[in-house]
Amino acid sequence: MPTSPPDKPFGTADPDLSRWAEKTFAPEDPVLAEIRERSVAAGLPAIAVGKMDGLHLEVLARLSRARKAVEIGTLGGYSGVCILRGMDEGVLHTFELSEKHAEVARESFRKAGVAERARVHVGPALRLLPEIEGEGPFDLCFIDADKTGYPAYLAWAEKNLKIGGVVIGDNAFGFGGVVRDVPGTDREGVLAIRKFNEELARSGRFRATMIPTSEGLAVGVRVR
Ligand SMILES: C[S@@+](CC[C@H](N)C(=O)[O-])C[C@H]1O[C@@H](n2cnc3c(N)ncnc32)[C@H](O)[C@@H]1O
Repeated sequence: MPTSPPDKPFGTADPDLSRWAEKTFAPEDPVLAEIRERSVAAGLPAIAVGKMDGLHLEVLARLSRARKAVEIGTLGGYSGVCILRGMDEGVLHTFELSEKHAEVARESFRKAGVAERARVHVGPALRLLPEIEGEGPFDLCFIDADKTGYPAYLAWAEKNLKIGGVVIGDNAFGFGGVVRDVPGTDREGVLAIRKFNEELARSGRFRATMIPTSEGLAVGVRVR
């Protein structure tokens, strides 16, 4: 059996290994598959988290024993259901700009049997987040909405997470834009994602890492 290379690469570039992991860990059950399909059929963009990302969210929620969680960017409720599955009790506040998306998400929460624990807030997250601050501090905050908003969402999380609380940001590779110019990529969004990562990694207020999913799932624990 070959030994590990001395300089171990980050993530896997081997699609066979990715497929094997998906097959072995079976991240998407029929409930989640139905949410993904119904969301697209309702005209929502196909931009929900990937299957393994959904499983990461569930496991991270469980690891952090989350009871009070926040999600910024609901879409059709796919990731929200994953987070709630990792919470034996408690509430997820999820924020969504579009009423149409929120409507699909409410149905998803209902079908997944978690509707009574999901609070869907409709409108721009930055305007609405202060309304829940009285319920904090929170255990987990998942950021997955407009990319230009990431630094402000991280600042909100820093202020409203407990010490030991977890912040997670999807698309943290900025669709490749954090390292090179990618034609068609929103420059302002990429710069904001870069700022989000730098703040998360270097501010000293989080201990953070990057889960090397295809789009980059940044995860930090508030340490001060
Ligand atoms: C990538 S999708 C979220 C996917 C979802 N987390 C999932 O994996 O199932 C981003 C969502 O954020 C919403 N959004 C964009 N800007 C927003 C804002 N300022 N406030 C709240 N939601 C916003 C979009 O309408 C969209 O539904």
